[in-house]
Amino acid sequence: MSVHKQVKKVTTHVLHAMKHRGEKIAMLTAYDFSMARILDAAGIDILLVGDSASNVMAGHETTLPITLDQMIYHAQSVVRAVDRALVVADLPFGSYQGNSKRALDSAIRIMKESGAHAVKMEGGAEIEESIRRILSAGVPVMGHLGLMPQSIYKFGTYTVRAKEDEEAQKLIEDAMLLEKLGCFAIVLEKIPAELAKKVAEATKIPIIGIGAGPHVDGQVLVTHDMLGITKDFKPRFLRRYLELFDEMQNATKRYINDVKTKDFPNDREQY
Ligand code: KIV
Repeated sequence: MSVHKQVKKVTTHVLHAMKHRGEKIAMLTAYDFSMARILDAAGIDILLVGDSASNVMAGHETTLPITLDQMIYHAQSVVRAVDRALVVADLPFGSYQGNSKRALDSAIRIMKESGAHAVKMEGGAEIEESIRRILSAGVPVMGHLGLMPQSIYKFGTYTVRAKEDEEAQKLIEDAMLLEKLGCFAIVLEKIPAELAKKVAEATKIPIIGIGAGPHVDGQVLVTHDMLGITKDFKPRFLRRYLELFDEMQNATKRYINDVKTKDFPNDREQY
């Protein structure tokens, strides 16, 4: 029987066992109780309380504005809904870069106040000190390399990263460093599939891809993109399983029409 079917609760150890048995890991984002309930009941392995909440929940253009307090609120809502999945919460921009004491305080706050099981942080060597300090407090850390949306103003665009040798080499070195430090997994975002394959083969920890091809240990998507709630976001790597924007809009139009035409509520829908 697959590890996925056997376990009642997904832990970082379960994820390692899945990598070593060649069993793919499925991860999605969640920011609220109701959505997290559905995804957890469906059997998702990891729920990421992503700072993409800044985009899809709050309507910001980037992930930079979301605060630690807001991430804690989202993570609390997700944790309340979950029976089985591992819940990973993003540390938001400004809560860990350049100051390892602040990084540790941020990680402890999010773990203590939300009940999340791990944190995710963007970056390699440049945030080594912060990762070390958080890990030394017993907080599991998921790394994030490749396209790092918190550094969008440094990159300038959301296009594929590490196409050139120099950046690819740095990414491999950063992945090896994150593994050596003790990160339990790494997200690779929007990099060439062959490079992601190299990283997955060179590391023992699970490598989760988004726009990083099929040769990694698992996949993650933003749930609102996967369900077609974000209508206009259509990168090549995204597979849409529903067109919920259209379906919800149609349902809303039918409701409006029923109210206006006095069809709703009918005789059975009243006391
Ligand atoms: O915030 C997020 O949703 C993420 C995923 C894109 C991996 O970091």
